[in-house]
Amino acid sequence: MRRVVYDADTIARRVGELGQEVTEAYAGGELLLLGLLKGSFIFIADLARAIGRPLQVDFMVASSYGNATASSGNVRLLYDPATDLAGKHVVVVEDIIDTGRTLQRLLTLLASRRPASLAVCALLDKKMAPPIPEVRFTGFECPNAFLVGYGLDHAERYRHLPFIAELAQESDG
Ligand code: PRP
Repeated sequence: MRRVVYDADTIARRVGELGQEVTEAYAGGELLLLGLLKGSFIFIADLARAIGRPLQVDFMVASSYGNATASSGNVRLLYDPATDLAGKHVVVVEDIIDTGRTLQRLLTLLASRRPASLAVCALLDKKMAPPIPEVRFTGFECPNAFLVGYGLDHAERYRHLPFIAELAQESDG
């Protein structure tokens, strides 16, 4: 029913490397990690601890999937970050890029708030969408499968799994 795609050790190694990449990319200035909930909640917790420089953390809530296994393309903003983005180096932390619609819509909005810079750190990228220039840090180019675990859900289940697995379509395992 489920096949492990990235085990916990593999994820930990890659997230450690991403933390180093982010650390090296921002020599100075204020760094804000902006996590897209809910899917990024585990990733951002690990990533933040792998970054060796001062930073702040805030969140946004956007929802596009509902309970379906295909993206609807409708993005709803349910929570806006309280932090002032102006002058900060903002890194949007996303669990997975599928159609890229969620990010495209949010990046337009965030850019209008005049951050010093705007980048995306995505753990998984299906590479289905046209390239988004802001996506500067990527964990894995992942298969075009329905993935769950390490924050990713199906109908709010499986987020707590410490690994990332493919969910069979005919059964929720
Ligand atoms: C998922 C995922 C991404 C987005 C990717 O979020 O976490 O944010 O969809 O899809 P896209 O590239 O096609 O826009 P979802 O709306 O399921 O909310 P969640 O993070 O609360 O699980």
